[in-house]
Amino acid sequence: MAGRVEGKVALVTGAARGQGRAHAVRLAAEGADVVVVDVCGQLPDVTYPSASEEDLDETVRQVEAQDRRAVSAVVDVRDLAGLKEAAGRGVAELGRLDVVVANAGICSPRPWDQVAPEVFANTLDVNVTGVWNTVMATAPHLASAGGSIVLVSSAAGLKVQPFMVHYTTSKWAVRGMAKAFATELAKHSIRVNSLHPTGVATPMGEGDMQATLGAAMAGDPRLAPMFSNLLPVQVTQPEDVADVVLFLASDESRYVTAHEMAVDAGVSEF
Ligand SMILES: NC(=O)c1ccc[n+]([C@@H]2O[C@H](COP(=O)([O-])OP(=O)(O)OC[C@H]3O[C@@H](n4cnc5c(N)ncnc54)[C@H](O)[C@@H]3O)[C@@H](O)[C@H]2O)c1
Repeated sequence: MAGRVEGKVALVTGAARGQGRAHAVRLAAEGADVVVVDVCGQLPDVTYPSASEEDLDETVRQVEAQDRRAVSAVVDVRDLAGLKEAAGRGVAELGRLDVVVANAGICSPRPWDQVAPEVFANTLDVNVTGVWNTVMATAPHLASAGGSIVLVSSAAGLKVQPFMVHYTTSKWAVRGMAKAFATELAKHSIRVNSLHPTGVATPMGEGDMQATLGAAMAGDPRLAPMFSNLLPVQVTQPEDVADVVLFLASDESRYVTAHEMAVDAGVSEF
């Protein structure tokens, strides 16, 4: 039986680990070749470990284990020229581009009055300009073939999550950006949707992340329930999000565009 994205080519940023790796492997399992992009280096301001080139190599290995081809690129999404080179090389080697998942992002929670100007700027650079760069570098390759672009926001882009003014700002911007691109790319039959996960078990939640959040919550415990999911699940898995990325990447969602797709266990309604 043909895979749900058989013959398509996808590009995923932030693919060295976590959700990005799950998206790359899930799309490959359903028949896509994948361009996997990651900075594989120190992330600004964060209190969790950064990804390595070995992590990206492992994603390539897992894609190839699905009998699909992978092209990898160590690129910072803040580098538009680097992304253009990666997209061009991916199309040259894999023949086309159908799906883009702008997934790379950083999260460095802290109370509002501890967000230094450079922390605010770094979060906007990676989470907003990086997503814009990803679309600018890839959409020209999609234009003649139609396609699907998924911009990864967060539940923090649907409702407020406390102790992350900078992150929340960036994820609401991604939500708006998806609608703006969807409007102008529609004439090429390119769909653009934003994706809004609740908490996902990835390395982003490791290191000192929980302690950092806990310390912030101690300053205003009334806000802690804002992280509660409606469904009785504490944390979701990368594969839960990848299932929805697969749907948005596939032709099953061919009339879904400019949509805010929540994979949020209802947290945004709680
Ligand atoms: N984990 C969660 O609870 C959660 C919830 C909602 C949304 N998100 C969002 O999902 C996306 C994926 O997060 P994750 O949980 O897999 O985190 P993660 O930290 O495990 O993975 C993110 C990947 O992005 C890469 N990356 C970061 N900055 C980059 C840059 N400038 N250029 C290229 N690559 C870069 C990292 O190296 C890493 O491999 C992010 O946009 C995040 O904001 C995460």
